[in-house]
Amino acid sequence: MDLIHTIPELQQRLHSAGSVAFVPTMGNLHAGHLELVRLARAHGATVVASIFVNPLQFGPQEDFDAYPRTLDADCAQLQSAGCDVVFAPSVAEMYSVPQQIEILPPPIARELCGAFRPGHFQGVATVVAKLFNIVQPAVALFGKKDYQQLFVIRALVQQLNYPLRIVAAETLRAADGLALSSRNGYLSEQERQQAPRLYAVLQSLAAQIKNGNRDFSALEQGASRELETLGWRVDYIAVRDAGTLLAPLAATQAFVVLGAAWLGKTRLIDNIEVSVAV
Ligand code: PAF
Repeated sequence: MDLIHTIPELQQRLHSAGSVAFVPTMGNLHAGHLELVRLARAHGATVVASIFVNPLQFGPQEDFDAYPRTLDADCAQLQSAGCDVVFAPSVAEMYSVPQQIEILPPPIARELCGAFRPGHFQGVATVVAKLFNIVQPAVALFGKKDYQQLFVIRALVQQLNYPLRIVAAETLRAADGLALSSRNGYLSEQERQQAPRLYAVLQSLAAQIKNGNRDFSALEQGASRELETLGWRVDYIAVRDAGTLLAPLAATQAFVVLGAAWLGKTRLIDNIEVSVAV
């Protein structure tokens, strides 16, 4: 496995590497990322993972500085998962001049997580667009845990005509249901015990939709109250149409229930897709 830090070196390495399957990450990897790398093997001759903590997608009060940088451990894990090339650029390499051109994501990027993290998806879309241009993959793989991110990246690929295919992978969970996330490492022991509650609340909401309940705002409020009673600070719990991320219509059959909530200083997100036959 090659570890490469600069764009020219990467492009030289990929020059005759055949089709590329690409897994963009911010490092501090967990089993969910490694599963993406394993899946990537089936989608390209060369598997490239990037590790880059992208300053553009963090707000001024967010955890950019605290975000764990664990390059050596990440590389060891990537190598055993079958990665061929790790691209780990510096901030100066990715943003060698001030980034004055940014990608304006679709309006839905200002709702859900976007309402609480202004500019976040603009930063994600911009760095992902740059990474796609640098790596030129045939396929790029993303996890469904970041459901809204996946939606924005699909829109980016479609609307800017990127010649690549997006593959989405299911969320990997700990045995107690907690979605794997690099930020789980911020949780105290006590918070870690509480953390699966977000998924449990979304599951019970999803079950009620399956059972025919369509009073979405009551369901959302009930779920938020349940978490708040347990000491969580809820950003949102929302039922949306899985295809548009907008409020469901009467004809909606594919729903997604999304939630974002804080346990102490840690913001957790999760979601569940719910399909109903009409
Ligand atoms: O999901 C992430 O790790 C990041 O948002 C991504 C897609 C690598 C862009 O920085």
